[in-house]
Amino acid sequence: MTRVIFNTATTLNGFLADDADSLSWLFAVAGADEAEQDFGGFMKSIGCLVMGSTTYEWVVDHENLIEHPEKWPYRARPAFVLSSRPLPVVAGADIRLRAGDVAGHWPEIREAAGDRDVWLVGGGDLVGQFADAGLLDEVRVSVAPVTLVSGRPLLPRRLESDRLRLESVRQAGQFAELVYSVRRKE
Ligand SMILES: NC(=O)c1ccc[n+]([C@@H]2O[C@H](COP(=O)([O-])OP(=O)(O)OC[C@H]3O[C@@H](n4cnc5c(N)ncnc54)[C@H](OP(=O)(O)O)[C@@H]3O)[C@@H](O)[C@H]2O)c1
Repeated sequence: MTRVIFNTATTLNGFLADDADSLSWLFAVAGADEAEQDFGGFMKSIGCLVMGSTTYEWVVDHENLIEHPEKWPYRARPAFVLSSRPLPVVAGADIRLRAGDVAGHWPEIREAAGDRDVWLVGGGDLVGQFADAGLLDEVRVSVAPVTLVSGRPLLPRRLESDRLRLESVRQAGQFAELVYSVRRKE
């Protein structure tokens, strides 16, 4: 069965990015490469990705992908980008711009994933939309030794222990990887 997994790095106090959408705090963590080593294994289990427009635009700008489309990191997989705006699409990449209710797009997302899983890249509210729709199965966070005063929230929803269950804890360099299963709403 296709599972929907939110996998992300986060600050200790639950931010995905700072107020300026910068990840400089993340790249500054010593040993971030070591923590990335298991990422290849995760990606093998992923059939397609879903992200919000801020996240997509950050990747496009950060990697200068309009001029260098060959640097798009998810070439082999469809990537759904949720936006109400007509965003520029990276040449040669399977990027599918969609808007509105995520449940309405679920049949297409599930089909694109094939027999593998769906990676929710972020941001937090988009993941919340999947949780609201009963379509979130796992939250996998790599907690960085960083706190920020404010920023983009990890998951701005109220999910209590009746829905979240800690499945594993692993140290990866300076990161703590916590994996939670999510019980879908009845
Ligand atoms: N720490 C990490 O590893 C990590 C992981 C992921 C993201 N990030 C960063 O965290 C930040 C997240 O930004 P964010 O909180 O703004 O979230 P986001 O999900 O990337 O973008 C939110 C935007 O997506 C569009 N959108 C979302 N749901 C939609 C829907 N159902 N229909 C149509 N449009 C929809 C809306 O903008 P429009 O309609 O105006 O397009 C919305 O304002 C980014 O800076 C990103 O780079 C960090």
